[in-house]
Amino acid sequence: MDNEAKIKQLQSYDFRKLVEDSLIGILLIEGSEIIYRNAKAAEIFGDVDLTDILFECSYVHPDDCRIVADTAEIISKGLSEPIDLEFSFYSKDEEQLKWVSCRISNLPIADKDLLMIETLDLTVRKQLEKAVRLKDRVYTLGRLTAGIAHQIRSPLSGVNIYLDILKKKLRELGGKKEDEAAIDKIELATQKIEDSINKLMHFAKTGATIQMSVNINTAIREVLKISETSLKPAGIEVRLNLDKNLPAFTGDSDTIERVIMNLIINAKDAMESIEGEKLLEISTYSEGGKIIIRVADSGPGIPNNIRESIFQPFFSTKQSGTGIGLSLNYTAITEYGGKITVGTSAYGGAEFNVILPVKEESQQDG
Ligand SMILES: Nc1ncnc2c1ncn2[C@@H]1O[C@H](COP(=O)(O)OP(=O)(O)OP(=O)(O)O)[C@@H](O)[C@H]1O
Ligand SMILES: [Mg+2]
Repeated sequence: MDNEAKIKQLQSYDFRKLVEDSLIGILLIEGSEIIYRNAKAAEIFGDVDLTDILFECSYVHPDDCRIVADTAEIISKGLSEPIDLEFSFYSKDEEQLKWVSCRISNLPIADKDLLMIETLDLTVRKQLEKAVRLKDRVYTLGRLTAGIAHQIRSPLSGVNIYLDILKKKLRELGGKKEDEAAIDKIELATQKIEDSINKLMHFAKTGATIQMSVNINTAIREVLKISETSLKPAGIEVRLNLDKNLPAFTGDSDTIERVIMNLIINAKDAMESIEGEKLLEISTYSEGGKIIIRVADSGPGIPNNIRESIFQPFFSTKQSGTGIGLSLNYTAITEYGGKITVGTSAYGGAEFNVILPVKEESQQDG
């Protein structure tokens, strides 16, 4: 019996089973109604209706609205051959963004014009690609910044040395006070340049090479000691939920403190102009060999359409922001083999979760 004959022997039930169990999401649409979707399609789209995506452009990421609308127009004119469409869309609660690739084709069955849509979930692949791209950019930028900072630093130390000599000479010659004051002002300006350069140098340097036992709860308390003076006057209530049995983290405490500090400053900035309760909640806990530091606030939260951009270097929505804070955090944490995620807090504001790996058998007191 040839293959064709073998296939003919299969009952239509068997073919249906093949579709049901397929690893590709398959949907059939008649008019504007989904008349069939297999288990994989249900898993990919969840509670989102693909017809709302295709024909209303609902849930679609703003960047992809155009391509989805263009495809809908082609479909409305009738498909002569299958077309491919790649786009991203949000879940109904807007917490999740998914990437999919769809092949849309006409399926003329029993006088009906059906659309068949085969879908692949590209989310994991896209997220990995994005992480690699971001890491690359941050790394390149870090190298570049270090180079420039170095170039400025050397002549700047020359300027400082000669300013010092000039000041001494001026005193020896019994120069005027206002001349010395002018040199002081130049020194103040060079100091400012040096401070900025030091900040930039931080951008290139992370503490991933330093390996000490760090008590995360202590690091949080240290940072809060410093930031208290600005949080209190801003009317921000700090809530701490620190796990007493948190394992120790192996790394560099300065880096961890800087990561926490950046998150606290961002939360404070976000709550600056809100009405009502200003809450900053910092929690720690461990789960499955990981330490989790959660920084949640009651600010306005982070709009979905910028969530993907906030870790990019120099992305800022603030008038005086440099947009370095979160990209520094991202580099530092990924170099430790950890992760940083963003979401919505229980208070309706932003929530950042810093997830750090734990080396085995490191326990500490809270
Ligand atoms: N807790 C938060 N609530 C709301 N938006 C936030 C929060 N944290 C970060 N963001 C958003 O992410 C952007 C990037 O943050 P990031 O810390 O990288 O830069 P920045 O705070 O703007 O500047 P910098 O940290 O360099 O001073 C912010 O401009 C803001 O739009
Ligand atoms: Mg910041």
